[in-house]
Amino acid sequence: MPGEMADEFIVTPWEVKGVIDYDKLVERFGTQRIDETMIERVRRIAGEVHPMLARGIFYSHRDFNWILDEYEKGNKFALYTGRGPSSGVHVGHMLPWILTKWLQDKFHVKLYFQITDDEKYLFKDFDSLDDAKKIAYDNILDIIATGFDPKLTKIFLDTEYIGHLYPVAIRVSKHVTFSITRAVFGFGHSNNVGEIFYTSIQAVPCFLESIEQGSNVPCLIPCGIDQDPHFRIARDAAPLLGYYKPALLHSKLLPGLRGFGEKMSSSQPETVIFLSDGEKQVRHKISNALTGGRPTVEEHRRLGGNPDICVVYANYQFIFEPDENHLKSVYDTCRSGARICGDCKVELADKIVDYLRKHEERKEKARDHVDEFMLRD
Ligand code: TYM
Repeated sequence: MPGEMADEFIVTPWEVKGVIDYDKLVERFGTQRIDETMIERVRRIAGEVHPMLARGIFYSHRDFNWILDEYEKGNKFALYTGRGPSSGVHVGHMLPWILTKWLQDKFHVKLYFQITDDEKYLFKDFDSLDDAKKIAYDNILDIIATGFDPKLTKIFLDTEYIGHLYPVAIRVSKHVTFSITRAVFGFGHSNNVGEIFYTSIQAVPCFLESIEQGSNVPCLIPCGIDQDPHFRIARDAAPLLGYYKPALLHSKLLPGLRGFGEKMSSSQPETVIFLSDGEKQVRHKISNALTGGRPTVEEHRRLGGNPDICVVYANYQFIFEPDENHLKSVYDTCRSGARICGDCKVELADKIVDYLRKHEERKEKARDHVDEFMLRD
């Protein structure tokens, strides 16, 4: 029925389509909502709550309460997150990295950062592995520029650390049948065997700190919810290998600039703010972004706009407006019609240009520090 089609959406690590119903996704994936009690618990332990948690941008989890239970008993967890180096980094990628940095600062914990050059080669983003590697090293500068603690952060490319990863990956892969990858990802006869194996590699860093310590250490993975299917498989395998199941914090996906029907994704550069975009590009892209405004200024002033369907507002809310009071005023003045889209876009573009300028300065400095972060065989 056509009415039902409106509800259709797809979320996998490689494909996001349609307007995502995040409540339905929690049901579909079998995760838990992050509720007020959990947010207050974080506030009590960490002394404050990051806006992305407080606002429900990170909105779902697996076993996060257990991570906090263990932490309160004195058992620290390790953080794990990652990047598939397909292109330049965009602001959507920054969401999990910003929260991961905040968690590292508040809980003083180690971070494993996986760069999956193998994944991006296998899934056909590149014809040559070297091309993935080149992008990876540029992405690593962006990762370091996010501000992770060099003493507590280890970054590695899969192909450069494979001697350490492989013995664990094959143990994982022994418990992952083709039927599982077919059920979880929809793989079929035309998928190459590297694609079918790949999740076993993405699972390994969940266990690296346990291996390093020689005893089980909880692992917490902040990531976009699109990555959850990999970790469902990793969680099933973990106890069979004698490890704890990894816990997760999932974020909603920042939409592209053309609307909520697609996530911000490098495959559509005009709808994406890349960290490398210059001021002119940012202003141009934001000026073309879809809003919740009315067709004319007169109507907008009279009837008000709808920030709930506006990607400009989403950018304020997800990342670029840390101040709760100002965010509320953006929302309220849009609704009342006092704020018009043109002005709102200029204000957002100013914020993004400022953010990117500061990031670029930190990225320049990062060039001299890469080796302090890297793990290689
Ligand atoms: P990748 O490079 O596609 O994405 C990196 C991280 O960014 C998140 N993300 C987004 N978050 C919010 N809004 C968006 N529009 C958006 N687009 C991407 C992703 O969810 C991810 O957290 N296979 C992984 C690499 C990886 C990984 C991991 C990621 C390896 N190990 C552990 C997270 C955790 C990938 O290609 O991510």
